[in-house]
Amino acid sequence: MTAPTTLDHVDIEGVDFAFEDSPEIHAILERLRAEKPYAVVPFAGVKAVLLLTHELVSAAFKDEDTFPASAVYSMTTGPVLGKTLQCMAGREHRVNRAIVSPPFRRSRISEYIEPVLEPLAHELIDRFADRGTADLVAEFTTRYPVLVISRLLGLPVEDEATVHRWAHDLFYFPMDPEAAMRASQEFTAHVTPILAERRRNPGDDLISMLVTESAEGETLDDEQILAFLRLLFPAGADTTMLALGNTLSALLTHPEQLDLLRSDPAEHVQWAIWEGLRWEPPVGLLPRACPEATTWHGIDIPPLTPMIFSINAALRDPAVHEDPHRFDITRRATSMLAFGQGPHSCAGSWLALAELNTALTILLDRLPGLRLQDGAAEQARVTSQVGVALRGPDSLPVEWDRQ
Ligand code: HEM
Repeated sequence: MTAPTTLDHVDIEGVDFAFEDSPEIHAILERLRAEKPYAVVPFAGVKAVLLLTHELVSAAFKDEDTFPASAVYSMTTGPVLGKTLQCMAGREHRVNRAIVSPPFRRSRISEYIEPVLEPLAHELIDRFADRGTADLVAEFTTRYPVLVISRLLGLPVEDEATVHRWAHDLFYFPMDPEAAMRASQEFTAHVTPILAERRRNPGDDLISMLVTESAEGETLDDEQILAFLRLLFPAGADTTMLALGNTLSALLTHPEQLDLLRSDPAEHVQWAIWEGLRWEPPVGLLPRACPEATTWHGIDIPPLTPMIFSINAALRDPAVHEDPHRFDITRRATSMLAFGQGPHSCAGSWLALAELNTALTILLDRLPGLRLQDGAAEQARVTSQVGVALRGPDSLPVEWDRQ
């Protein structure tokens, strides 16, 4: 059989899957999946293969030989963040990942991370609790995960606004590479002396753990640690910010589900988080690439084809989730695919879940009767962020009963 050289048609016109916000993205994905489990779609002026079912997305994540993560990340994030885990493969990836993973293991989270989370959530809510109204995106979801990361790193940052600017600029690197490069350089200049100090006198913070851990007889050099730390803002802070925003958006626009959650938070919070991740995963349409020509699961793929793993279509696949568009916190489904799968799956999923659980529990407790402000339903809708890859609400204008 001859290897395919081009994709000869597109299955949908008028939507570019790299750039354009598509308010009706779930309806588009459903329509395409009703035709076949994948679609050929416009992507930054070329054609990409979009995988739409749970089965295909899950298989593709696990198939690092056919769709290596490094093929995309080395080009897109490499120049800004350096050689991160996402740009590595094989033994190098295994060793680096083994060294950075222990601090994020489930068992370690309660030990050194949970004590950071609760006080921080209260600190942020204290700033607006008396007011009775707030935009939870501007005042909580964008702030909390960034501050969690900088406190875990033990960064002596007096200027909270600077850390937020670094996080924002690193996140928006596809839109403004110059600002991202500047943020990367400033962050590196800020952290390098701290790293040197932690090498001399390790403490109990995350940077100290990274300098002392080893795997297969190796430790990380400074640039490997710095690349991992740079990655933490876009990979760890922004994803969690969007996840919290999406779950809050879902709850606030489904008041009966919010009432159910409030009736027994201890029982429902973790399931509301999982259902939020399923209903609107923050990493919705993950770009990958297929470097070599292949026929994969019956799909003829030419060399150098952009691939899109549609996590959001997979998590609304009716073959896996009944009535998939319904937001229902009683589903009791753990939607791990929201964190990817296979060798490059999320290294911080337990941290993210702990952050989300703590934040949602404390917000509900501190802001009784939390609800959207009148007429704010449209603003609170989840939309595309950074092209169409990521999803989250732009704002969440809320009010609550003041005691
Ligand atoms: C709800 C929040 C989060 C979501 C939805 C999420 C999602 C993901 C996804 C889908 C991937 C796979 C990317 C790929 O295969 O190309 C990933 C990788 C990664 N995530 Fe997360 N993430 C979240 C929070 C975090 C946090 C808090 C951290 C902090 C440690 C983190 C660190 C990472 C790292 C380091 C990788 C790269 C792993 C590798 O390449 O081996 N993430 N995440």
